[in-house]
Amino acid sequence: MALPGQYERVLSGMRPSGRLHLGHYHGVLKNWISLQHEYDSYFFVADWHALTTHYDTPQNMQSNVWDMVVDWLAAGVDPSRATIFIQSQVPEHAELHLLLSMITPVSWLERVPSYKEQQEKLAGKDLSTYGFLGYPLLQSADILVYNASYVPVGDDQVAHVELTREIARRFNYIYGRDEGYAEKAEAAIDKMGKKNARKYRQLRTAFIEKGEQSALEKAHQLLYQQKNITLGDKERLFGHLEGGGRVILTEPKALLTRASRMTGLDGQKMSKSYNNTIFMRDDNDRITKQIKSMPTDPARVRRDDPGDPEKCPVWELHKVYSDEEVKSWVVEGCKTAGIGCVDCKKPLIDAIVKEQDIIKARARPYLEDPTLVRTVVASGCEKAREVAEETMDEIRECLNTDYYS
Ligand code: TRP
Ligand code: SF4
Repeated sequence: MALPGQYERVLSGMRPSGRLHLGHYHGVLKNWISLQHEYDSYFFVADWHALTTHYDTPQNMQSNVWDMVVDWLAAGVDPSRATIFIQSQVPEHAELHLLLSMITPVSWLERVPSYKEQQEKLAGKDLSTYGFLGYPLLQSADILVYNASYVPVGDDQVAHVELTREIARRFNYIYGRDEGYAEKAEAAIDKMGKKNARKYRQLRTAFIEKGEQSALEKAHQLLYQQKNITLGDKERLFGHLEGGGRVILTEPKALLTRASRMTGLDGQKMSKSYNNTIFMRDDNDRITKQIKSMPTDPARVRRDDPGDPEKCPVWELHKVYSDEEVKSWVVEGCKTAGIGCVDCKKPLIDAIVKEQDIIKARARPYLEDPTLVRTVVASGCEKAREVAEETMDEIRECLNTDYYS
C-alpha cells in the first residue's frame, strides 16, 4: 500500500489514438502537466485497452503510440518529473488483472455503464468478448498495481475508478483478514510503546464510535511517525482503524478533469471523428486557413450586421485563448458591428500559432532523433516495472503463490 499522505501517486492512461488535437491538450495534458509538479506521476499508453475494442486492427499500433507520446512531450509532460510508459511493457498489469478476476463478480462488470453504451455505439463490431467485458477490471489493475492515490479522468471514466475502489475493498477484505487478524492488530498496537498505543486506541474509539474524521487523520499521522513497526503491521493498523483487516491495496480517488469541452472548428465538440480539429503541431498555414473559414454567428451576413458571440464558435475559442481585454473587445465589437469577423479571428490565429510554436519547439528534438522518445519510454517502463513488481510480490504472498521467495 501507499501510506496515505506519505508520498502520493497520480496515475492516468490514454489509449494510443495517434496524433492529438487541441482538445486533448487543453482538456487532459495541461492538467497532467500541473499534476506532475505536485505528485509522483505515472502516465501510460493504454495499448492493451485499445485492443479490447480494436482487436482486429493492430496495424497502426506502434506509430499511434509513438506519435502520441511525442505529443505528450511536446505539451510539456516532463520525463524528469513523470514516469512515461507503455502498458504492455509492464506485464504485471496482466498478472494483477488475472488475479483480480478471481474475486470480481461478473455482474459488477456488466453493470459498468460504458459496457452497454459502447456496445451500442460500436454496434457494427462484435464486442461480446471476454476482453471487452473485463476492460474496466484491467483499468483497475492499471491503477492498483501502482497503489495510486489519485486518477485524473474525464467524467466518462469515473465509474471505472469507483469499480476500482470496490475491488480494492473486496481484496483487502478477503486477503487482509488472515487468521487471528484482530489479535495480530492488538499485538501490533502494543509494539508502538505504551504512550502511542494508548493514543492509537483512543483515536480509534473516537473514530469508530463517534465517527470523528479528525481522529482518523490524527491516527494516520501517528502511524506514519512509527519507525519501530514493520510495513505489515502498519497496514494492519491502518485497516484496524476502520474496523477492517490489513489495507493491502489503496482505494484511489478520481480527480475529475474540469469538463473543458474544447469546441471544434464547426461549433461541435472537438473530435477526430467530427473532422473539426486543430492538431497539436499543426501547420501554421493550415491553422490560419481553418480559422478563417470557421462559421460565425449566422446573423452577421454583412459587415455592419451586429452579432452575438454566444452564437459563434469563434467566441468559444476566444474563451480559451484570449485575455479579458481581447474578450471585451470581441463582445463589444461583435454586438455593435464595430469589428468584422475577419478582425475578430486575427488575435485568435496569433494566439494559437504562438502556442503551437512552443509545442513544436519542444517536439523538435524528439522528431529529429526518434531514438530519444524510445529511450525516455524504455526507462519509464523499467521504473514502472520496479514499482509494479513490488506490489505483485505482496499480492503473490497474499495468494500464497510466492513459492521461491
Ligand atoms: N480507459 C481509459 C480511457 O479509455 C484509459 C485508461 C486505461 C486509464 N487505464 C487507465 C485511465 C487507468 C486512467 C487510469 O480513456
Ligand atoms: Fe463571432 Fe467574432 Fe464574428 Fe462575433 S465578431 S460573430 S464573435 S467571429
